[in-house]
Amino acid sequence: MSSRGVDLEGSRVLVLGGSGVLGGLISAQLHRHGARLVLAGRDAERLHQRASSISPEVQSVLFDLREPTHADHVVETTVAMLGGLDGVVNAAGVVAFGGHDTLGAEALSDLFATDLVGPLHVLRSALQHIEQGFLVNITGVVAEQPMAGMAAYSAAKAGLSAATIALGRELRRRGIHVLDARPPHTETGLATRPISGNAPKMPVGLEPKLVADTIVAALIAGQRELPASAFAE
Ligand SMILES: NC(=O)c1ccc[n+]([C@@H]2O[C@H](COP(=O)([O-])OP(=O)(O)OC[C@H]3O[C@@H](n4cnc5c(N)ncnc54)[C@H](OP(=O)(O)O)[C@@H]3O)[C@@H](O)[C@H]2O)c1
Repeated sequence: MSSRGVDLEGSRVLVLGGSGVLGGLISAQLHRHGARLVLAGRDAERLHQRASSISPEVQSVLFDLREPTHADHVVETTVAMLGGLDGVVNAAGVVAFGGHDTLGAEALSDLFATDLVGPLHVLRSALQHIEQGFLVNITGVVAEQPMAGMAAYSAAKAGLSAATIALGRELRRRGIHVLDARPPHTETGLATRPISGNAPKMPVGLEPKLVADTIVAALIAGQRELPASAFAE
């Protein structure tokens, strides 16, 4: 599905997970298209490195998606830094592997807070500032094909995908474009950093730059969904 495209030139954009691999690559691409950026994440050093590798003008803010009170903070800080807000790209997330009975209570709460509830808090806050603009959530192939050994991750991503598509319908009249990107397994190393369990053997994933470029191109083209099948190598 597509609509009129998004013009990134001069747009003021908050990238959640801007310190991560996909978030960093997407940020670099948004910058190339003229966006002004604030990158957000938990790790000050990683954030600073990513931001300065793109441009000295790229700013960063610390926040934790597991803390509901941080949602207003990250949005308001971004608005103050950029003089407003036009777009949010959510490239933050964590994964957990293994039988559902092996997942600890804390890991389950952290996973839903990071991958579903936290992003919804940030979007709720961001929508109080965005007049015309865009929202992007990177959900994932598991939203379409829930996987054994990844029940909680699949559920959180399917929930965020559903919310993203619903928001697209809700916000269309306001001139806010919404994109749900559902990439397949990608070689960012995310699977080597699970908050619980160990990744099963997986076939080689997609090249991160291809995934990042596909997402930014889809945003510019005005696409509303990028199903897993759209990420061809
Ligand atoms: N790689 C794949 O195979 C794949 C496939 C489909 C979808 N995705 C999704 O793509 C997104 C990006 O993943 P990636 O592969 O680029 O992994 P990544 O390099 O590990 O990036 C994850 C990002 O999330 C941030 N983050 C994690 N927990 C956070 C928290 N509690 N609060 C704030 N930020 C937090 C991390 O920053 P800090 O640690 O500094 O906080 C980092 O910037 C994720 O949503 C992931 O689920 C990935």
